[in-house]
This record gives sequence, C-alpha cells and structure tokens, in this order.
Amino acid sequence: MGGLSAERAVSLDTGRGVYDALVSRGHDCVAIDWVEGTSVADLVHDANIDVVWNALHGTYGEDGAVQGLLQCLGIPYTGSGILASSLAMDKVASKRIFESHDIPTPGWFIAAAEATADSVLANVAVPLVIKPANEGSSVGVTIVTEPGQIPAALELARRCHGPTLVETFIAGTEIQTGILDDVVLGSIDVRPAVEFYDYDAKYCRDDTQYLTPTLPADLLARAETAALDAHRSLMCGSYSRVDMRVSESGEPYVLEVNTLPGMTSHSLLPKIAANKGIDYASLCERILSSANHEDPHAKARD
Ligand SMILES: Nc1ncnc2c1ncn2[C@@H]1O[C@H](COP(=O)(O)OP(=O)(O)O)[C@@H](O)[C@H]1O
Ligand SMILES: [Mg+2]
Repeated sequence: MGGLSAERAVSLDTGRGVYDALVSRGHDCVAIDWVEGTSVADLVHDANIDVVWNALHGTYGEDGAVQGLLQCLGIPYTGSGILASSLAMDKVASKRIFESHDIPTPGWFIAAAEATADSVLANVAVPLVIKPANEGSSVGVTIVTEPGQIPAALELARRCHGPTLVETFIAGTEIQTGILDDVVLGSIDVRPAVEFYDYDAKYCRDDTQYLTPTLPADLLARAETAALDAHRSLMCGSYSRVDMRVSESGEPYVLEVNTLPGMTSHSLLPKIAANKGIDYASLCERILSSANHEDPHAKARD
C-alpha cells in the first residue's frame, strides 16, 4: 500500500481496508507501506510473505512495474500481470486494442505538441474532452464546451507525463462495471452533482450519487458485454472496474479499464459486490484467492 504515485493517499485507504478485512477473516497479514526513499524489493523480501495483496494505485503499482518486480522475486500477487497492467494504464494503447477488437470507445486523437485550438477543432467539434493518456482519478481531464477553453485544457493535460488525448464527448449516462473472476459482477450508475465525475466528485464531495443501474435491461447487458470484452482484450487478471459512458441513443463507450480500482469499503467495486450479496471482506478474500500462485521461475528452471 501507499507507494510513490499521486494516488498514494487513496492507496493507503485501500490497503488499510483490505488489511483489516483479511485480518478479520483470520489471515496472517503484514501491512507494507512503500514510502519514497525505501526499497520495495527489500520491504517485500524482509516481510517473508507467501502472497502480495497489491493495493498500490497508479504509477509503479498499477502499471506493471511492481508486478514485474514481484514476478522476478517469485512472489504471487493479486490482480493483473505485467502486460495487462501497463496496457490498461495507457489510454492510447488501450484504445488501439479496443478498436482492434471492435469494442466501442469514444473517437480520439493525440494532440501534437504544437496543437492549437484551431487544429483541435479541425478534427472534432465541441463538446470534446481533453485528457492525459497516463493519469487516473480524473486528474488533468477537462470537458471542453467552448472553443475558448481549449488552450487551458491542453496545458492542464500536458502537465501530466505522456501524450495528451482529445476525445469526442459522450453525452448520456456514466456507468461502471465490476469484473470478478473474469466474469461480470455487476454495474453501478454514477451521477455526479457537478459537470462530470472529477476528482472532487470521486473523493471529496458527498453529493455524488451511486445508483443501481437505471438503464433498460438490454442496454445494460450491452454495456456489460462491452466491459467484459474490454477487460479480456487487455488480458486483465481476475478483477477490474471498467468505466463507460452510455450515449443518449443507448450506445456504450468504454473509457478505460482500471486494473487496480479503489478498494476502500466505500469504493465502487465493493458497492457493486455488496449489491450482489458479496460483503467487503469476502470480496477481499475472493481477490486474494485469485492471486497467481504459479511459480514464475519454474519454467526457467526446468
Ligand atoms: N469521452 C468522454 N465523454 C464524456 N465524459 C468523459 C469522457 N471522457 C472522460 N469523461 C469524464 O471524465 C471522467 C474521467 O475520465 P477517465 O477517462 O475515466 O479517466 P481517469 O483515468 O482519470 O478516471 C469520466 O469518469 C467521465 O466523467
Ligand atoms: Mg476513470
């Protein structure tokens, strides 16, 4: 838990929640806080553990880096492997794969370093979305409703590392689908009280509504199929949370797959699980038991 990314605080909440839940079920656990300046390899090695429940969100924890380290150390870990983690973390790589699998995703292009409001508008009309390719938590995302907002939106997204994306804005509703053990667990409607599901609406405000899906059954099924296809197209591990927009005409569009979704007791995947009768501690255990126990060094030794 913890780690070096911008999502350190959320990761500590996830980690503490998971730790308490697993201890309450009788597991022998140690909470490892990866703090800047410490070696995560040493921390994990010295803890003498059988399996890692990975609660690190964002850079290094969600993007394949820690997964690679654990694989080298021969320690099983929860969640997706190296390739799926890094693909899902990168919205450009993800969208290319979605498109190659005919999974609907909002139309997009990469804004070149010299892009201007005019060059953006030559490709797509407002409303549009400008976002960084490699961030999370809605950091650097702007919904552009007027051309005059474009320069500031480009500048904001460029403060994050990696390319800047311009996407078609999908009017309609926001839905997130949870995947567990490689099948659809369920979905939740997200209704922010503000313009979009930004950082504040995610973590700070108490007026964001999370509802059992209000979409007609056939549209919900379509969205959930797109979510599972997206999860599988990136070759994700046992669980993920897929963010989508469903257009006013009922078309689902996959925004992204989160391979290490928030897992505080009030996060969305636990809410989706609770709606399906799976309590928080059971969800943490289900994820634990899906950790890949194959010895990654076995093949090399044979
Ligand atoms: N193309 C889009 N159309 C409408 N809303 C969008 C679009 N892209 C992003 N958003 C809004 O911004 C939020 C964050 O975007 P997302 O692509 O999920 O990035 P992040 O990794 O930061 O969560 C979404 O939950 C949604 O509310
Ligand atoms: Mg998102």
